[in-house]
Amino acid sequence: MKKIIALLLSFILVFQLSVVSFAAFDAPKLSQTEWDKLYNSLKDDNTLPMLCVGADETEVRLVWHAEKDAAKPEVKIGKGEAMKNVKTFKGETTEAENEEQVVCRVTVSGLEENTTYYYQWHTGEKWSEKCKYETKSFTSHKAIVIGDIQIGGQTDESTKQSEDGLTWNNVLAEALEENSDASYLVSPGDNTSTGKGAGEWQTLLMPKGVRSLPMALAIGNHDKKGMMYNYYTSMPNEYFGKYFEGLDRDFWFRHGDVLYLVFDACSASAADHMAMAKEAVEKNPDAKWRIGVMHQALFGPGYSILDPETTILLNAVFTPIFDTYDVDLVLTGHSHLQGRSHFMVESSVVGLAKSGETYKNPNGIIYLNTNAICDQGSFDLEFPHTAYSFFENDVTTYTTLEFEGDTMKIETKRGDNSELLDSITIEKTRKQHDQTPLKWLQRALYKVVELLGLIYLKGDNITVAIRGGHF
Ligand SMILES: [Fe+2]
Repeated sequence: MKKIIALLLSFILVFQLSVVSFAAFDAPKLSQTEWDKLYNSLKDDNTLPMLCVGADETEVRLVWHAEKDAAKPEVKIGKGEAMKNVKTFKGETTEAENEEQVVCRVTVSGLEENTTYYYQWHTGEKWSEKCKYETKSFTSHKAIVIGDIQIGGQTDESTKQSEDGLTWNNVLAEALEENSDASYLVSPGDNTSTGKGAGEWQTLLMPKGVRSLPMALAIGNHDKKGMMYNYYTSMPNEYFGKYFEGLDRDFWFRHGDVLYLVFDACSASAADHMAMAKEAVEKNPDAKWRIGVMHQALFGPGYSILDPETTILLNAVFTPIFDTYDVDLVLTGHSHLQGRSHFMVESSVVGLAKSGETYKNPNGIIYLNTNAICDQGSFDLEFPHTAYSFFENDVTTYTTLEFEGDTMKIETKRGDNSELLDSITIEKTRKQHDQTPLKWLQRALYKVVELLGLIYLKGDNITVAIRGGHF
């Protein structure tokens, strides 16, 4: 009888392990020689696809360039490598940045949780190689955050693009090796350097890992120097607003219990940003967590504190949105310094958030700023960091957000060896405070900000036209 019980218990254990463990991502780290070979074989093309997050966890989106005359915006997807129960999804083509190609965009829907899929896209000539995409749990899940990938850094040189591509490949590979349970990646922007070169996007899409990890990429000021983001991405629920122009856009998406509000912080159109947040929140009243994403680093760390466009204008536009909608966490980048704030309301610290601690139903928002892939260590830390409890700038980093039950665990690790640098857990058993009298007053006062934002917007359009793009 003891033997039978032992056997049964071991079966149960094996079964449990098989349910919670995930296959590793196919995302190898590469040596300089291996990367050079990959880079040189792909650099003269611009047709690598991007896997993007869907409107929710049951969708993903694929976007790629194809020859205008041959393009077929179709994706085939099925279960397992044999692609059982294969389905074909058809999308649409829109004009590309050149005359010879079009942009293909397809949304794949009806995905089931904890399922291994393989997919292929139609290149225009044939079906592509098979790529694996594994869905994870739709309730408990993990996201990876990496910022300022900024392929090309501050240049348009292919040597720097290649250098950043290798760093990006290897940090992503490290993050995926350590987190085989990750469901998607979020970046607070500056994906490219000039925003004008197809090669920047092609390089960003070279790492094998991106074929299996849907990405949500915010727009940064470097992307905003050109229009390429418009042709190489396919984000869900894009919001083009009343006053947005050109590349300007926000978007939102949902994964499990988490609602992401992703802002184009290079536009001062407060009315549009607030309207997007309102729409997203009203459509997702049951989302337990709300996370804001924007490029510029509100409150620092680093030189941001000396930048009036961020400290005055963006603070006035975005802080009330995050406070009004009781956001739990805001992801930023831009200053190339990894850091995490204490709990903040408006622009003030209202409570300490110490590394390694768990806080239950805290008052205030955590701001997390990402380090850059394209640059480590060039900005020093001589500026005051009163709001920030943790910062680091001389190594690559990545952050994970892990959602389980009532908790969100935020961990930041080194990008080369996953050494833990910072960790904090928020436990939330309350609902969002959307309807307090103070919130009504804040919304009324925000009308003034919306008006001032519009006036600034008109002036900024002239400034941007004169300087030939965003800083
Ligand atoms: Fe930036």
